[in-house]
Amino acid sequence: MTDDQIREAVRDILKANTHEGYSEQFQTPYCYIQPSTSTYPFQYFWDTCLHVFILTALDEHKLAQQNIRSLFAMQDDDGYVGHMLHWSRVRPAKWTDIFQSRPGRKLFRPHMSALIQPPLVAQTVQRIYSGTQDREFLDEMLPKLKRYFDWLAKHRDIDGDGLISIITPFESGMDWKPTFDQVVGFPRGVANRRLFWRVVGNDARNFLHRYKIETLAQKRYFLVKEVGFNTIYSQNLTALGQLCEDVGDPDAARYTAMADRVTRGMIELMYDEEDTAFYDVDAGTGEKIRVLTPTIFFPLVIRGLPESITEALIDRHISRKDEFDTEYPIPSVAKNDPSFNPHESEYLWRGPTWIFYNWFIYQCLFYRDYRDEANKLEDTMRKLIQQSGFREYYNPFTGEGYGAENFTWSGLVVDMLNLTDETM
Ligand code: GLC
Repeated sequence: MTDDQIREAVRDILKANTHEGYSEQFQTPYCYIQPSTSTYPFQYFWDTCLHVFILTALDEHKLAQQNIRSLFAMQDDDGYVGHMLHWSRVRPAKWTDIFQSRPGRKLFRPHMSALIQPPLVAQTVQRIYSGTQDREFLDEMLPKLKRYFDWLAKHRDIDGDGLISIITPFESGMDWKPTFDQVVGFPRGVANRRLFWRVVGNDARNFLHRYKIETLAQKRYFLVKEVGFNTIYSQNLTALGQLCEDVGDPDAARYTAMADRVTRGMIELMYDEEDTAFYDVDAGTGEKIRVLTPTIFFPLVIRGLPESITEALIDRHISRKDEFDTEYPIPSVAKNDPSFNPHESEYLWRGPTWIFYNWFIYQCLFYRDYRDEANKLEDTMRKLIQQSGFREYYNPFTGEGYGAENFTWSGLVVDMLNLTDETM
């Protein structure tokens, strides 16, 4: 496949998975893309953002705008937006989704879930704005974005240190990432039914507490300061600050200062000098969770992170045969971790290669001038797609495709293909 053929194949998948309609309840047309028409029928928060990265890379700005408008169409007055938006398909996809719904709301009308997901959304508006210079769209979205980020800071910066805590593994977007095992009380090892009950049990408990954040903060059953989420939070506060600056909004300085505070907090709390890695922190105990997953690299994408950390981290971990260097990198947990399982499994993010991780780390490596390592990831993406198509995830040794077919996020490859020194 040539690069242009890859682009056309991605465009076809996104168009085929586009879902449009009109909501009587919200008195608005809606338009979103299903990550997979069979397994993931809803509008998901961070999936929508990833779709916008892909759409803008394909010059589909109008469709990108529609997706973002729909993402904010159900926004609460206080700024909250849930991680799943049920438009016409109001039934849960899985029975466990019921525990992620907001108590007291009518499940059989269009609604949002009670969870959040990584907030890539300010960057998406920035992407759209830089591609269109559509000031009207920016003026429409900016107040919504500000309310959303203000909600996050107010309700999820639980310890007042600037960092966001998540209350269930699913809020990371990397559902079964092995760092969460010890927080839910699952012994280190390959996932099994016991892990399932532990994680679902946590969601059921949150639901029974009616998702009241004051109670959950006090009980500290599951509170994690996750590296991926906080990296994205910092990046997006920066993007929000820049957007404010573009329109002369005086809040620019406030968001930029918040972003810097998140970055400083991450270095202080999450960076482990001995292991040269950024680790998730269990906010219940204050301890770092020493499991090597690709998110150890995520903060490298943040401007202003000291060079000394960058070099130490990349040199030590990226090319190690016993960790992340496989035939088709990057595996979603280091090979030498007891939880590592390269095969298809309902317990996602525990061994196979995800194009999302490669896309994210590609940006880190590219920006930090590790071009050989970055090129290797780009080659991997091409090979995976060539060999196995656009699948949800892949075997890191054989490249075999697993999970959903025609999975939209694997289209992030087109954003990688567009990345140049100017766009970074
Ligand atoms: C899986 C992913 C999650 C995503 C959802 C829809 O649960 O782990 O990140 O939002 O699918 O694609």
